[in-house]
Amino acid sequence: MPHYLVGIIKESSGTVIIDRKDRDMQTAKVCGKEDVTILAIESSCDETAVAVVRNGREVLSNIISSQIDLHTLYGGVVPEIASRKHIERINQVINEALKTADRELRDMDAVAVTYGPGLVGALLVGVSAAKAISFASGIPLIGVHHIEGHISANYIENKDLEPPFVCLVVSGGHSHLVVVKDYGTYEILGRTRDDAAGEAFDKVARAIGLGYPGGPKIDKVSREGNPEAIKFPRAKVADSIYDFSFSGLKSAVLNYLNSCEMKGIPVCQADVAASFQKAVVDVLVEHSMQAMEMCGMRKFAIAGGVASNTALRGALEEACARREIAFYHPSPILCTDNAAMIGAAAYYEYQNGVRHGYDLNAVPNSKLGERM
Ligand code: KG4
Ligand code: ZN
Repeated sequence: MPHYLVGIIKESSGTVIIDRKDRDMQTAKVCGKEDVTILAIESSCDETAVAVVRNGREVLSNIISSQIDLHTLYGGVVPEIASRKHIERINQVINEALKTADRELRDMDAVAVTYGPGLVGALLVGVSAAKAISFASGIPLIGVHHIEGHISANYIENKDLEPPFVCLVVSGGHSHLVVVKDYGTYEILGRTRDDAAGEAFDKVARAIGLGYPGGPKIDKVSREGNPEAIKFPRAKVADSIYDFSFSGLKSAVLNYLNSCEMKGIPVCQADVAASFQKAVVDVLVEHSMQAMEMCGMRKFAIAGGVASNTALRGALEEACARREIAFYHPSPILCTDNAAMIGAAAYYEYQNGVRHGYDLNAVPNSKLGERM
């Protein structure tokens, strides 16, 4: 019988590869249960978040303790402050998530946690808490990739969504065009060569005096501005039609601001914001639709903090409708960092037989699809 690698079980140390027969037996055991309830933890950046999720799609609680106010003082996330705040808040947020879900630890079938990518100190807080819970209560530990979590946020409100589909993941640290071939199986078509889309939003917001967090502020101010007022570049990457590059656009905005200052021309903040946003949206929509044409798929989803952008959602909605493509998007609260998305992703990892040992570590630069 051929030996397929279909899942990995990590014991307290070392890796055990299981074959399809063993996986089927495990899945049968899982299917024998009516429900799989997962306690999920996310602490990769500046949100301490814990959720209780049943069967990957039903959110029993989703608690997010944001640190935005603290970091606003410094114009961006300060990693040391983020880690310290996660330590202070994590137990409280775990208790609140269980209480809101009206569940206790003994009702959980697994504990899931984001192991990367993200800020190493911040990730370590969640990973340590999850390992402690797994050790103390004897429930399996499942490490989840943050981007896989973002993609899986789409399963929560779209009960009919199943792979395969194409997903545009745009967050503060990542811009990826991904084919979701199956649960847990991804093919990356394109990625950013420099700044992530969210990073560009944050940097431009700072330059035009909007401050942190930049994305939501640009989104709001843009509604008062003219997106055609300033012609900013739409960058193309020479050797890939799917890759993105946003650093040239950011520089173009900075050059525009400098030249206005030198010439004594007043800057219209709303016009700069709207024109910059339009340039980002145009590129994201164009690359996404090229990917849809190439793959011949009829389902397209978006994920990540920038996916909550109103202009982007509107433009993609229209582009998909024109091509009779089904468009999926999480609610804004499930686009930005949260733990419900980690619980959704963890359910499918659990079904695939993925278990981690107590040697699970924070991996700040982990790549999507790379098994830990
Ligand atoms: O997914 P996320 O919460 O964290 C990361 O994994 O990075 O994304 C945060 C990013 C930030 O750069 C933020 O400015 C951006 O998402 N963002 C937005 C909006 N809301 C959040 N960007 C554009 N428009 C928005 N409405
Ligand atoms: Zn994120």
